Amino acid sequence: MKTLIAYAGRNGSTQKMAERIAGQIGSEAELVNLLKQPAPEMTEYDNVILGGSILAGVVPKPLQKFIKQQKETLLSKRVHIFLCCLMEEQIDQYFSRNFPEPLYSHAEHKVWLGGELVLEDHNLIVRKMLKKITGTSEDIHSLSWAAADQLAAAAAAPTKE
Ligand SMILES: Cc1cc2nc3c(=O)[nH]c(=O)nc-3n(C[C@H](O)[C@H](O)[C@H](O)COP(=O)(O)O)c2cc1C
Repeated sequence: MKTLIAYAGRNGSTQKMAERIAGQIGSEAELVNLLKQPAPEMTEYDNVILGGSILAGVVPKPLQKFIKQQKETLLSKRVHIFLCCLMEEQIDQYFSRNFPEPLYSHAEHKVWLGGELVLEDHNLIVRKMLKKITGTSEDIHSLSWAAADQLAAAAAAPTKE
């Protein structure tokens, strides 16, 4: 079962998680960074993992575009979704806003993989805003490798008929 992992993030945490999942699935997984690579031809995949980071409530534009363009095709595949962000309490809202119905209900797994924030990657204005959101002026490293491994195992497992 060939698996496409199509993802979009800005500062590396989504990419780390996408690569981790691909590594766990093995040679059947193909990674596509939607910020850098063209949208892939979908026919060869039965299984699709969509991953994104949340910036100001939304996933990056190339992922939004991919979801819009492929919405019919995605409903004919197994779909799993992951998000990287910091505010776990908002996660249901982020999933439903960024993966509209019927894709949201169709997705077999919707998993929060934590987030990462390295303040020196951002300018002063963004740092101030992030401090307000997070309530701390420290870097945050809360990526959940275990959750990524669980998602990889669940996505690679055959469906229960
Ligand atoms: C400008 C900016 C805006 C952000 N907005 C949100 C937000 O609205 N909600 C949230 O939970 N996390 C927010 N975050 C935290 C990111 O989602 C988190 O750092 C994530 O790990 C980034 O993934 P990436 O490295 O793949 O871009 C924001 C981060 C930045 C830099």
